[in-house]
Amino acid sequence: MSAARTASYRRYLMCPPTYFRVTYSINPWMDPTKPVDPALALLQWEDLRDRYRSLGHTVEILQPLPGLPDMVFAANGATVVDGRVFGARFANPERAAEAPAHREWFLNRGYGEVHDPHHVNEGEGDFAVTESWLLAGKGFRSSPLSHSELQEFFGRPVIGLELTDPHFYHLDTALCVLSGDEIMYYPDAFSPGSRAVLRRLFPDALTATRQDAAAFGLNCVSDGLNVLVPSGATGLLRRLRERGYEPVPVDMSELHKAGGSVKCCTMELRD
Ligand code: ARG
Repeated sequence: MSAARTASYRRYLMCPPTYFRVTYSINPWMDPTKPVDPALALLQWEDLRDRYRSLGHTVEILQPLPGLPDMVFAANGATVVDGRVFGARFANPERAAEAPAHREWFLNRGYGEVHDPHHVNEGEGDFAVTESWLLAGKGFRSSPLSHSELQEFFGRPVIGLELTDPHFYHLDTALCVLSGDEIMYYPDAFSPGSRAVLRRLFPDALTATRQDAAAFGLNCVSDGLNVLVPSGATGLLRRLRERGYEPVPVDMSELHKAGGSVKCCTMELRD
């Protein structure tokens, strides 16, 4: 099956991995006893940023703060739809100070509506935007209560999805929006009921193998045509091509050691 695909212009927010390290463990990928190469992490991050720019997209930069080694995962700092900002509230104290840093960025940039949330939510880590719905993960980080808060703020229907495998602790490690209402996901990361919901809403979705999911293949970013995918997800590269997408493999091995990859480093500014 193949279809004519078109890219649409995107604006992204990224935060350089200046202070990136693995100094604590809040997901199964993080092992503080294993070395990370900060210089290589920076090169990989710059490569991702440059690829977005060479595809014609805009990348805005958030200043990193010392003492916040996970701040490179900018997707967790907020959810932006129609220029309205739903702020984050982190589950773990290690990352709590990232939320006000993001809020300040949006306020300084003149975003009028920046919501300070009541309930724990980790931004686009757990919230995905399709044409018709907001998909919202729960189970590890974002509170189920954040789902109704999100729906009330944006006035869009929220579909709650239960994550059950700690390796896929954020929705964006298990599901990706490719374009419109087209998604791909890893079924085994979800509860049986949530799998049934996904099958019902997205009967034609591309589903990933565990191997591709473990290579963070779902943690990718699509502009409707080009899909920036962690290079280890070789099965997905082929299957995306069959569907008319242009997969762009990127190596994010150092960031992977903190449980993140392409999408985690990229917040979409839907202004
Ligand atoms: N070490 C970070 C954490 O556990 C990784 C965050 C990855 N971000 C994401 N959007 N999945 O919070």
